[in-house]
Amino acid sequence: MRIGVIGTGAIGGAAIELFEDAGHEVLSGNSRGGVAEAVEFADVVLVAVPFGARGTLPVDELAGKVVIDAMNYFPARDGQVAELDNDETTSSELLWRVLGGDAAVVKAFNTMDAATLEEDGRPAGAHDRLVLFVAGDDELAKRTVLELIDEIGFDPVDTGTLAVGGRLQQPGGPLFGTSVTALEAQRLFGSAG
Ligand SMILES: NC(=O)c1ccc[n+]([C@@H]2O[C@H](COP(=O)([O-])OP(=O)(O)OC[C@H]3O[C@@H](n4cnc5c(N)ncnc54)[C@H](OP(=O)(O)O)[C@@H]3O)[C@@H](O)[C@H]2O)c1
Repeated sequence: MRIGVIGTGAIGGAAIELFEDAGHEVLSGNSRGGVAEAVEFADVVLVAVPFGARGTLPVDELAGKVVIDAMNYFPARDGQVAELDNDETTSSELLWRVLGGDAAVVKAFNTMDAATLEEDGRPAGAHDRLVLFVAGDDELAKRTVLELIDEIGFDPVDTGTLAVGGRLQQPGGPLFGTSVTALEAQRLFGSAG
């Protein structure tokens, strides 16, 4: 698969290594350039920039693509957004709107810290394999991301739509910051695991 990665910091950098190790072709961009090229090249695009930078994403180039949203909304860093502060919507639904409703947004890679992502992948079946949570409204796009996560060493768990799963996964939600196996997730979070 051709994967574009926007943002080559802690999360983007870790994901690039994992994608390449799994045999995927990766092109990346960051604030210094290469974003449009990485997006044009890709079937799937991981967005791993501060949420406050969402307005700079190349909307036309992202149309029709599977967009993995690793971003978390932190008001102190990203600026206050009223409809997130009053829980009217979620940051991934907002991203979907920013992208004109033309990209298949899937929320993933947002609950686990970058060091764990980088170091703690395990082969399928390992007893200590950790979960990466996935939410999305487009079932086909979500399936693509679930399979990708399995390939890079984590158990993918579908938490539902961007509205439901997004709230479980976002900062302040019960899945945020967790490092759990599928069995532990099942015990702790029931249907979300
Ligand atoms: N760190 C974690 O453990 C973690 C875990 C889960 C989710 N997240 C979320 O993932 C996102 C990235 O976090 P991070 O910790 O990886 O951040 P980071 O280490 O600060 O890296 C941010 C990256 O985004 C790039 N960038 C910033 N503005 C941009 C723009 N307008 N266009 C293109 N690229 C831009 C930066 O480019 P330069 O390299 O040119 O500066 C950098 O490569 C955030 O939304 C964060 O909340 C982080």
